[in-house]
Amino acid sequence: MTELKNDRFLKALMRQPVDRTPVWMMRQAGRYLPEYRASRAQAGSFMDLCKNADFACEVTLQPLERYPLDAAILFSDILTIPDAMGLGLYFETGEGPKFKKTVTTSADVDQLPVPDAERDLDYVMNAVSTIRRELNGRVPLIGFSGSPWTLATYMVEGGSSKEFRHIKGMLYREPEVLHALLSKLAEAVTDYLNAQIRAGAQAVQIFDSWGGALGHRAYREFSLAYMDKIVKGLIREHEGRSVPVILFTKGGGQWLEIMADTGADALGLDWTTSLTDARTRVGDRVALQGNMDPCVLYGSAKAIREEVAAILAEYGQGTGHVFNLGHGIQQWVDPDHVTAFMDALQELSPAYHES
Ligand code: CP3
Repeated sequence: MTELKNDRFLKALMRQPVDRTPVWMMRQAGRYLPEYRASRAQAGSFMDLCKNADFACEVTLQPLERYPLDAAILFSDILTIPDAMGLGLYFETGEGPKFKKTVTTSADVDQLPVPDAERDLDYVMNAVSTIRRELNGRVPLIGFSGSPWTLATYMVEGGSSKEFRHIKGMLYREPEVLHALLSKLAEAVTDYLNAQIRAGAQAVQIFDSWGGALGHRAYREFSLAYMDKIVKGLIREHEGRSVPVILFTKGGGQWLEIMADTGADALGLDWTTSLTDARTRVGDRVALQGNMDPCVLYGSAKAIREEVAAILAEYGQGTGHVFNLGHGIQQWVDPDHVTAFMDALQELSPAYHES
């Protein structure tokens, strides 16, 4: 077991003292980086990158070569699970993810297999162990999955959606069918994340990208209840260290208290919630991750610095904050603007950790 040289990300998640605020960015490996676009062209497609451990490793490390990031995130996608359930994931240029088969009836749900992660998603586990080996203790590696609700939206809609009319139709017409689907997904996600942890992931994040589209009663019943089940089924200690769990419901700012009740170690926040309010509400129970609007990176270096300063001040003194964007970095961002973001954070954050 290689010793971890930089553990401030894991420490902040466990609310232990750190010297400066750790940072990573959702979607930090991706199209805004010219070296990522070159690797993707060489591999052939996005899924070819994901399915080849050497390519997945190469693109995972790319942002770490440019920026002083405190964590790496596995290069993969949340839609690997529905793909392994036989839905046939493909990407059409400019249109995002699509499935050849969709889930619409009770019979469709009954026929879906629960994949065995170590067997059916072995390419993901190979990527995890390859990345861990190449990182050689430089920073911790984050594993991830989509939440059952978020995965179900893609499986029922057949791709990305704005209105969620098919899945919400199912929710209000045949809730028992949706519950059966979500139960299978919760089982699959628990197994998938535990397999990633066994392969070497040192923290895990559950992306509930579309939880915020649910009504407040429906959120508890159709998204949170299943994430709660997953959190309770995860391996929480591995290689002699805690494996922190981060829950990120985009648009979930009003539900922080019930999200903390799951026993997760940290909550991810988007930019619509104030870190000051969030810390008052749940900051003695969980760490907080976020929450700069990714579009701030379209601003000037001065504007970026002011936002970084404001977010650090909003959280205030002490540990328990992991700096991040409130959602994934966008493909049109200039990589030099990320440098301005990192510079500001390196310069301004140590003052918040002096005892
Ligand atoms: O954060 C990272 O750097 C790790 C890799 C990662 C990807 N997708 C790579 C990716 C992670 C953590 C994800 C999660 C993911 N995937 C989510 C949850 C996070 C979120 O953004 O809310 C969702 C909803 C997906 C589903 C998905 N995959 C969509 C909607 C798309 C198209 C997005 C787009 O911008 O067109 C993808 C494809 C995808 N996943 C890309 C990358 C780098 C772009 C593929 C390419 O064209 O190269």
